[in-house]
Amino acid sequence: MADPVVVFDNVAVSYVRGVEAISNVSFRLGPREVVFLLGPNGGGKSTILKAIVGLVRPVRGVVRVFGVDVKSFREWWRVGYLPQNATTFFERMPISVSEFLRASRVVREGLDPIEALQLVGIEDPEGVLGQRIHDLSGGNLQRVMLAASLVNRPELLLLDEPTVFLDQNGVAAFMQLLDRLRTEWGLSAIIATHDVAALSTLASRVICINRGALFDGSITELVNSEQLCNIYGFHVYLVKHGH
Ligand SMILES: Nc1ncnc2c1ncn2[C@@H]1O[C@H](COP(=O)(O)OP(=O)(O)OP(=O)(O)O)[C@@H](O)[C@H]1O
Ligand SMILES: [Mg+2]
Repeated sequence: MADPVVVFDNVAVSYVRGVEAISNVSFRLGPREVVFLLGPNGGGKSTILKAIVGLVRPVRGVVRVFGVDVKSFREWWRVGYLPQNATTFFERMPISVSEFLRASRVVREGLDPIEALQLVGIEDPEGVLGQRIHDLSGGNLQRVMLAASLVNRPELLLLDEPTVFLDQNGVAAFMQLLDRLRTEWGLSAIIATHDVAALSTLASRVICINRGALFDGSITELVNSEQLCNIYGFHVYLVKHGH
């Protein structure tokens, strides 16, 4: 079997001494695998993504990225990361979309800004490129943030709530894009979301997290697991009847 892209081995993370935000979480992400992280608010989805990019250190267990302990991993251009609420970091910055995307690109083989904007479904890439970040609509700003996470042609993509602000067409296009990049770039991805309806369009693996990982399996299995639906209060019928 090919080496895993991400390994969580019995990981616990604490922000406050004595309180574990996630406990004993173990999973592996393989090449070209797309995993959706579901779970209630405060369940630990963002914490898992932050642990992969080294923004929080485990108090127990090991996180490996491309086979390397995250503590010593340095090849960050191989990883695209869209933090939760990324738009709020940049909305007041007086820079243009072009400047932002150029600054995000650190490898020569990366995408040029127009290419990146086209990829994420921006209709008028030339026009948007010259706009100030804070003049963009919410949906376009979110798309630009997504474009920034893709400019280095990452092998691993970590997205925290990527579909907020996107309309239904935008969400569908985003799911198709993920599928395409999985094939064309060999991309692996972990996507934290509350958008259960969106993920029904891409048959894939789901991990449910509420401090610990409570479920790891296919969407179909999740839908058929009534007890789990009760635990989470998900409106899983959306998935059942969506497609
Ligand atoms: N910087 C921080 N300092 C202290 N506690 C934190 C911090 N960040 C997260 N936490 C706590 O860790 C737990 C997990 O939070 P996390 O943000 O990972 O959840 P989430 O599943 O992403 O939630 P949401 O769906 O609301 O985005 C929560 O109890 C949260 O309050
Ligand atoms: Mg979160």
